[in-house]
Amino acid sequence: MTNNDKKSQLAIHGGMPINTEPFPTARHGAEEISDAEINAVIEVLKKKKPFRFLHEIGDSKVGQFEQMFKEYMGTKYALAVTGGTTALISALVGLEIGCGDEVILPGYTYIASAAAILAVRAMPVLAEIDNSLTLDPADVERKITPYTRAIMPVHMRGTPSRMDEIMAIARKYNLKVIEDVAQANGGFYHGKKLGSIGDAGAFSLQYFKIITSGEGGMVTTHDRIVYERAAMQHDSAMIFWERDMFKNILPFAGENYRMSEIQGALGQVQFGRIDEILSQLRSLKRVIVNEIRTIDAIELQDIPDPAGDCSVSICFFLPDAKITKEFSSALKAEGIPNGSIFDKEIPDRHIYYYWDYVMNKTTSDRNGCPWTCPYYKGQVTYYKEQCPQTLDFLNRTIAIPLGQKMTMQHAEIIMKGVHKVSQALL
Ligand SMILES: Cc1ncc(COP(=O)(O)O)c(C=O)c1O
Repeated sequence: MTNNDKKSQLAIHGGMPINTEPFPTARHGAEEISDAEINAVIEVLKKKKPFRFLHEIGDSKVGQFEQMFKEYMGTKYALAVTGGTTALISALVGLEIGCGDEVILPGYTYIASAAAILAVRAMPVLAEIDNSLTLDPADVERKITPYTRAIMPVHMRGTPSRMDEIMAIARKYNLKVIEDVAQANGGFYHGKKLGSIGDAGAFSLQYFKIITSGEGGMVTTHDRIVYERAAMQHDSAMIFWERDMFKNILPFAGENYRMSEIQGALGQVQFGRIDEILSQLRSLKRVIVNEIRTIDAIELQDIPDPAGDCSVSICFFLPDAKITKEFSSALKAEGIPNGSIFDKEIPDRHIYYYWDYVMNKTTSDRNGCPWTCPYYKGQVTYYKEQCPQTLDFLNRTIAIPLGQKMTMQHAEIIMKGVHKVSQALL
């Protein structure tokens, strides 16, 4: 075999791989942690007050973080909490969603989106995703029943959902919209920040997200009542410490999801990095996608607003599941990290198919609540093949993760690798 033959032969078949060096990780904010974060946390510890009351703004790292967050998102309110799940729960409670209500969400999202709906004792109703890998508005409309109260679009993998269509459906049927922005902090859609378009937004600041406070989350809304209810939910004793803040609602028993000053300090510094991280990710993705677009046999993920995409990964569809698995293995052998998404052998908590406590309607409650809730008059059912369109897209998706530490050389390697494997297999 000549050197040229070896180069053009796939590495998986003994040819020369395109790349033999490790790729930078696709961790985002966590990868950037440096002296600024360390000093901010030390400052809190030196003050010996790692806790804040909600009314403390200027003196509190959490308060300052909330201020920055709402200004950036263009919302009237931002409430810091302990995580993305508790942000979703607070937003749902904020919107008075609970017993007897159905909430429509995509079959492709982290299981926490469904768990949050169940935590407020509402019913998750699964809808299909489309070629954007986010909620398919046509299926949302099909899933509406007399019990539907809300839609939960999830901006999966940093991709903005089809918010114009979703908001139009919500207006038509008088439904609330809770945006799950856990994976899309800093993304936007038609000029508006994700999390500012629906009635409430819920963000995660957990380790794997675009910026991190270790664990943490944020609720955004334009509505004072939603904010007050979310705040009441995030602190079981809220009314005792902040009586003057709650003029519009009656007290109720919340839970404790307060963000600590240590997380606030970390989150605040990380938030200052968000635009730089996203700008690098977007430049990398733009170059790579423009190249992949020239390969006829590949169908790129449709991004509802490419400019606002967080660009944390590049996704494309191949003709069938078999070729997708072969493609993924071949690309890995070329030294390019990637994955196919759906595999019946490998449970993935981002696909409804594996959500066992939803599929089997199991619960911690000895009376089976919320599944047995007498206030619920609908008939939600679950089965594995319920969202065939979702499984079909995920069966045929190749996802290449991007990290902001990657350079244009890494972009080159990805483009060469995709070309090489496409020429050999497609
Ligand atoms: C889409 C989505 N929603 C909600 C969550 C829950 O966030 P957290 O883990 O911070 O509770 C996550 C986190 O992975 C997520 O990816």
